[in-house]
Amino acid sequence: MYTVKQIKDTFLNYFEKNGHKIIDGASIVPENDPTLLFINAGMAPMKKVFTGEEAPQAKRMCNIQNCIRTIDIDSIGDRHHLSSFYMLGSWSIGDYFKEGAISYAFELLTKGFSIPKEKLYVTVFSGDEKRKIPADTESIEFWKKVGIADSHIIRCGFEDNFWRIGGDHDAGPCGPCTEMFYDTGAKHGASLEESGIFDDKNRYIEIWNAGVFMEYYQDENGNYSKLNMKSVDTGSGLERMLMTLNGLESAYDTEIFLPIIEYLKNNCSSPIIESLRIIADHVRTSILILNAKVEPSNVKRGYVLRRLIRRAIRHMRTIGLSDDKIPELLDLTMQNMKNIDLEPKWNFSKQEIIEKFMAEFAKFSKTLEQGLKAFNEYVKDEKNIVNNKLDSKIAFKLFDTYGFPLEITKELAKEKNLIVDEKEFNELFEKHREISKTEGTFKSGLADTSEETIKLHTATHLLQAGLRHVLGNYVSQKGSNITPERLRFDFNFERKMTADELKAVEDFVNEAISKEIPVIREEMKLEDAKKTGAIGLFTDKYGDNVSVYTIGNISKELCSGPHVSNTKELGHFKILKEESSSSGIRRIKAVVEK
Ligand code: ALA
Repeated sequence: MYTVKQIKDTFLNYFEKNGHKIIDGASIVPENDPTLLFINAGMAPMKKVFTGEEAPQAKRMCNIQNCIRTIDIDSIGDRHHLSSFYMLGSWSIGDYFKEGAISYAFELLTKGFSIPKEKLYVTVFSGDEKRKIPADTESIEFWKKVGIADSHIIRCGFEDNFWRIGGDHDAGPCGPCTEMFYDTGAKHGASLEESGIFDDKNRYIEIWNAGVFMEYYQDENGNYSKLNMKSVDTGSGLERMLMTLNGLESAYDTEIFLPIIEYLKNNCSSPIIESLRIIADHVRTSILILNAKVEPSNVKRGYVLRRLIRRAIRHMRTIGLSDDKIPELLDLTMQNMKNIDLEPKWNFSKQEIIEKFMAEFAKFSKTLEQGLKAFNEYVKDEKNIVNNKLDSKIAFKLFDTYGFPLEITKELAKEKNLIVDEKEFNELFEKHREISKTEGTFKSGLADTSEETIKLHTATHLLQAGLRHVLGNYVSQKGSNITPERLRFDFNFERKMTADELKAVEDFVNEAISKEIPVIREEMKLEDAKKTGAIGLFTDKYGDNVSVYTIGNISKELCSGPHVSNTKELGHFKILKEESSSSGIRRIKAVVEK
């Protein structure tokens, strides 16, 4: 049996022996790359190296890079789809090209990992007329030269054998690739020779992208140009390699997941295999994302994390794992990472990671039961279902009100033989996000959605009301930034505020707090919001609906939230500082104290 450690060592030693520098893996959160949510391939942190904009650490490099790919989140639970994995990657930057890459890959697999060449199949790029990219005939010749039979060389088109970092609109270096597959044998289906079909789902498992031949650049419009330099980018999923080399049925039977699966089986009432796998996968990825300092939220990376945690929790309920086992499960997962030599560099203690996970658990477990009840009610009502399709507004409501990510609703619907229209849901979701984003331009900058930050966010609304009350209604927000520690609020005002004015504003806010006023959120049309006299940035960029937060007759603002439900939750408001921010703009820093 191969272990993780043996695979890592065999791979790194092989490339090091052949002149490749072993470099560190990067954080899964990309640095200075707003186009990418998470690092999804070993080459992703090095895009600029391939375009020649940045110098490489060496012309030949290799490493092991943690990657997150949630695009196939629906497939997780099958044999080998995972939301995170470790990529074994090697690179030639303007050094050797196709021939070198193919002979290294062949030697590593047949000698380093002792795979008989008869078990290997390779795919090569057959060209794309529309994009004017020619077929890769050279690779075919090089594969034959190392000893792969012609019958084991399969020609594939753009979708399979042209590698780029995203879709048609993601700019970056790219090129044709050649991939290696392992024949897992007759128990997984008919051979290529028998059926004429290359079954790359079951029988032939991809174990090595032996080379993306980086010689093109795709711009945002999907146009291709030639790069000045020809490079090679290779990659292999460690988990899949481990499963394949050990002849295992699934990635969950490897040492990476098996102890977690066993633990779940021993501690639950109904060990449904798919749920066990989803939990093991999602818990592991959540830990890795939490450790990269991402907090669960409704946007971007935070939303990926939230979906993973919430879906895991729902499956924990499905298999009947009691809540008090969750910390132990996380602890075991982290301990196992260490045992098998796949430990990340920890940014937090294990206890802190468990606490972060459990905080999201606490948020969701409150609404999960209610949401499940609501779902069952909704599906009883015929008007919510047309042709076996659940009304997308209901799916969105389950998200908006009960915090159900789409995956959960889809799974629940499937159990009732219903479908959910993902496209429609996403449209509603985007619309909602667009509103939040636009509102965010003046709500701006909540660092997170922790309890403290939310309190300070409500305090910011009261502060703005207080400033308008004391200084005049022409004063309005010019910027806001809120962390769990303090609020920072910029507004137009031409001079330093006096001590009396500051005191009057503080008193105004504290009085509102002591009056225990409910904070009410309403959704309405932009036109109607204008009529209510709500303040905020009214621009054409809004979608149809906006949300308005009202605090008694003190404050009414366009805002996407979140807020506390009553001002009594805030504690004592205190201004720490009033200073100039820029010409005509003043800045206040303030806190709420218990
Ligand atoms: N970047 C290539 C891949 O992800 C190696 O397959």
